[in-house]
Amino acid sequence: MSDPHIVALAGSLRDESFTRVATSHALDGAATAGATTELLDLREFDLPPLDPDLDGQGDSDDLVARVDAADAVILGSPMYHGSYSGVLKNALDYCGFDEFEGKTVGLLAVSGGSFPVTALEHLRSVCRALNAWVVPHQAAVPNSYSAFEDGAFVDDDTADRVATLGERVVRYADIEADPTTFESDQNEGADD
Ligand SMILES: Cc1cc2nc3c(=O)[nH]c(=O)nc-3n(C[C@H](O)[C@H](O)[C@H](O)COP(=O)(O)O)c2cc1C
Repeated sequence: MSDPHIVALAGSLRDESFTRVATSHALDGAATAGATTELLDLREFDLPPLDPDLDGQGDSDDLVARVDAADAVILGSPMYHGSYSGVLKNALDYCGFDEFEGKTVGLLAVSGGSFPVTALEHLRSVCRALNAWVVPHQAAVPNSYSAFEDGAFVDDDTADRVATLGERVVRYADIEADPTTFESDQNEGADD
C-alpha cells in the first residue's frame, strides 16, 4: 500500500503524558516508513461515558470518522491498575467492527513500574473481539518517570522498539484479513 494513513489514540489525559510522547514517537516511525499520520489527542474530544441508547454523543462521530479513515491504528495506553486506561476503553467503545474489522493495529503501553504486559494483553483481547489484525511486535515502556528526558526517550533501544511499532503497522497495513469465522459473530454489540 502506498502512503497508508496511520491514526493513533493516546489513552492518557495527563498534560505531561509519557504515553502521548511515546505514541507520537511510534507515529514518527510510521512517517519514516512512508505513512501519513494523525495523533488523536483524547483531551481534545468531548467523549462522555458511552450510553448505547444515545447517538452522536459529544465528539464521538468525529472520533469514529477519523478512526474509520485510517488504514491502520496505533493504540497507546498508560498502565492503570494492571490494565489499559478507561479513557482509551471509552473511546474504543464508540467504535466497532466498521472501524476495526480486518484493520491492522499496533499496541503500545507505558507504566510507572514494571513492564506493562497485562495492559498490552488486555488491549490485544479487545482487538481480537473487534476482528482487528494486531501486529506481533508490541512496545512496552516501563519506569516511565525515568524513561524520558526533555520529551525524548533516554534509552535508544526503547526508542527503537517504539519506532519499529510504527514501521510494522505501515508494513502490514494492507495485510489480508482473516476470513469470516464462527467467532466473527460472537461480538454482536460491535455491529452497531
Ligand atoms: C489510576 C492509575 C493507576 C496506575 N496503575 C499502575 C499500575 O498498575 N502499574 C504501574 O506500573 N503503573 C501504574 N500507574 C502509573 C502510570 O502507569 C504511569 O504514571 C504512566 O506514566 C501514566 O501514563 P502517562 O504518563 O501517559 O499519563 C498508574 C497510574 C494511575 C493514575
